[in-house]
Amino acid sequence: MDLRNIFLRHVAQTSPAPLLTQIVKARGMYLHTADGQQILDLISGIGVSALGHCHPAIVHAVQSQAEKYLHTMVYGEFVLSPQVQLAKKLVDLLPSSLDSVYFVNSGAEAVEGALKLAKKITGRYEIVACRNAYHGSTHGAMSLMSSEIYTGPFRPLLPMVRFIDYNEPVQLDTITDQTAAVIMETVQAESGIHPPENNYLVKVQNRCKETGSLFILDEIQCAYGRTGHFFAFEKYDVVPDILLLAKGMGGGMPIGAFVSSQENMSKLANSPALGHITTFGGHPVNCAAALATLEVIDSEKLIKGLPTKIDLFRQHLPHPYIQEIREGGLWFALDLGDAQLLQRVVREAADEGLLIDWFLFNDHSLRVAPPLIISPDEIIKACKILHHILDRC
Ligand SMILES: Cc1ncc(COP(=O)(O)O)c(C=O)c1O
Repeated sequence: MDLRNIFLRHVAQTSPAPLLTQIVKARGMYLHTADGQQILDLISGIGVSALGHCHPAIVHAVQSQAEKYLHTMVYGEFVLSPQVQLAKKLVDLLPSSLDSVYFVNSGAEAVEGALKLAKKITGRYEIVACRNAYHGSTHGAMSLMSSEIYTGPFRPLLPMVRFIDYNEPVQLDTITDQTAAVIMETVQAESGIHPPENNYLVKVQNRCKETGSLFILDEIQCAYGRTGHFFAFEKYDVVPDILLLAKGMGGGMPIGAFVSSQENMSKLANSPALGHITTFGGHPVNCAAALATLEVIDSEKLIKGLPTKIDLFRQHLPHPYIQEIREGGLWFALDLGDAQLLQRVVREAADEGLLIDWFLFNDHSLRVAPPLIISPDEIIKACKILHHILDRC
């Protein structure tokens, strides 16, 4: 059996139609396949490879930490330099109320930790979430998903989750003094990129303050420069009580975090102690990679360079078959208005060496979310290939 068949036979599948591209190497903006194709990556492994693939600084950080020590002890007991340095560097970038970092393994685990923390702080258990948001696939995170198609077969989920529509301030009175927390993405991603409008997040934060509910912002997909700011909330004049990070954080290695005040976080260490336990959370190799990611974003001035790149996409993306372009930064949803057309475009793009896809809750908009390192020439090349395919389809 060749690798593809062994994959299909023995690696658990998540869909009936996986892409089946066999990757042998990945560098910078490109994935290299077993049949010699170079694929220009316009989706960053869904928001992960902000620095492109195998950035030398990340590879070096991983290698040198691997030579010192790997896993030593369940998270939270030993003082491990990569963890400590990463926590310090992160809190130095954040407002003073976000000064304590709980490291976990993934986005969904960050969501789980945040929900537990909110319940422990408030003594309440009702959660308000937004329709068409995606926060992860574990039971707690999945309870925040409004789509019955995805959640139906896995019920019962968490009780007392109320849904509101994102960007609809009239619905904010659903948040009451029974609400432990309101959780939303700073920019809603999987509905097909919807940034907050008309001070929406400020209104949510104010309502949370009025009701004593915690304000959780999920920046698992939109932090680390994606919106043109390091943290997306910086753009919208709010500060969450709990901030969630993952994806781009590790520069390609698996790591996540929930961040809050030290006072809040202490609730997970007392009555009972070990309120959240994770064996591998904050793995030293992954923390070293995450630390290198912060250093590269800073030293290569990646965020400063984004407005020019965003402008270039704005100039070169429009096409008669694209009905609407929604923009969240170096992050676009190209609405084709037709799911079948989109599927054809994605397939033909892959054949032409361009990796794009759609959104979980929006099957007629193309996702464009390239690594932040994309060059002006690569932007123009990607738009040309896309237009060529759209003309043909
Ligand atoms: C906004 C958001 N939150 C949470 C998650 C879950 O992250 P993970 O897949 O690492 O569990 C995702 C993943 O796509 C996401 O986009």
